[in-house]
Amino acid sequence: MLLLSSASALCAVLGPVIDANFPDPAMIQVNGTAYAYATNSGNINVQVAVSHDSGATWNLTGTDALPDVGSWATNGSTWAPDVVQRADGTFILYYAAENPDINTHCVAAATSMNPEGPFTPQSNPITCQASGGGTIDIAGFQDTDGTRYVVYKVDGSSLGGGGPCGNANGAFATPIMLQKLEADGLTPTGNPVEILDRIASEDGPLVEAPVLIIHGGTYVLFYSSHCFNDPGYDIRYATAANISGPYTRQGSIIATGDYNLTSPGGATPLPDGSFMVFHAQINADPLTRAMYTATLTWNGTSISVA
Ligand SMILES: *[C@@H]1O[C@H](CO)[C@@H](O)[C@H](O)[C@H]1NC(C)=O
Ligand SMILES: *[C@@H]1O[C@H](CO)[C@@H](O)[C@H](O)[C@H]1NC(C)=O
Ligand SMILES: *[C@@H]1O[C@H](CO)[C@@H](O)[C@H](O)[C@H]1NC(C)=O
Ligand SMILES: *[C@@H]1O[C@H](CO)[C@@H](O)[C@H](O)[C@H]1NC(C)=O
Ligand SMILES: *[C@@H]1O[C@H](CO)[C@@H](O)[C@H](O)[C@H]1NC(C)=O
Ligand SMILES: *[C@@H]1O[C@H](CO)[C@@H](O)[C@H](O)[C@H]1NC(C)=O
Repeated sequence: MLLLSSASALCAVLGPVIDANFPDPAMIQVNGTAYAYATNSGNINVQVAVSHDSGATWNLTGTDALPDVGSWATNGSTWAPDVVQRADGTFILYYAAENPDINTHCVAAATSMNPEGPFTPQSNPITCQASGGGTIDIAGFQDTDGTRYVVYKVDGSSLGGGGPCGNANGAFATPIMLQKLEADGLTPTGNPVEILDRIASEDGPLVEAPVLIIHGGTYVLFYSSHCFNDPGYDIRYATAANISGPYTRQGSIIATGDYNLTSPGGATPLPDGSFMVFHAQINADPLTRAMYTATLTWNGTSISVA
């Protein structure tokens, strides 16, 4: 049996490392500097924070990585950004913003040579799927053969009907989709494939916040279940041998009560799966979600933070 020393000495979860509203965080490392990005707050469409010690301590830049959301979108409803870097050095910011013509969010991409931005939006979104409730929570993935993809959520939660997150207790589908891209990381090619959806008994009204990595040859999909303002919100994962699925649910990584957290979710792991950023509620306020970090331990395809 392993001898465990005090929990604090071994604590793999730290935070809040950004003690402010910084929801749905993403993280990228560039030349020894780490950058984190989050959902809009105040007048900033895409928040940015910088760390010079591999993610231990962070400072908000106070700048907006996406001052121009694109001519199709409105300011101030820019959710769950994600950033990847192409081999030519270009950074791609994936984001969701509201399209006022169809009253839903659409997912889109913007580019910059500087990870702090400003990012320049593409002229059109990647996909809207308005009849399904729009699209949100986009994240980039590059497979081992170099092929680029995004995953995102079709936001059935926006279709209304009461219940948690206004999703009529899960009446509307919230499928997580996989979309292959051209090598530019910007242009969709082929049709999106559904890789997961909510199961009411396990997920409540929804699944969301997908992020895909590959670890030891297995595709690992991180996601959150339940409504973000519900104690059931959590960080889960599912695994597959084929990127298109089927994905097998592997359960929760962090849930309410673990490490004294409330409604943890919106996680983004580094591509190697060693570390992740996520948010949890602070001040007993669902609309104040601070950033935390966790060091991940892998045993085959089993993930833990202990
Ligand atoms: C990272 O380092 C490379 C090589 O020194 C340099 O060309 C590049 O501009 C740097 N990128 C950033 C974002 O600082
Ligand atoms: C954050 O800002 C403080 C005060 O300006 C500075 O001392 C510290 O080095 C900064 N930390 C990071 C991680 O940039
Ligand atoms: C968003 O805000 C920026 C900065 O204030 C402004 O330049 C831009 O025109 C606004 N975009 C829209 C669509 O309102
Ligand atoms: C993955 O699944 C897709 C869809 O079923 C199939 O076309 C493809 O050949 C599979 N890829 C591998 C490597 O098995
Ligand atoms: C756990 O969180 C609650 C409320 O967020 C707080 O009052 C309490 O002090 C925390 N306990 C520990 C051990 O940090
Ligand atoms: C890893 O998982 C295997 C199979 O479930 C188990 O037998 C083994 O004890 C685990 N190793 C550790 C270090 O937890």
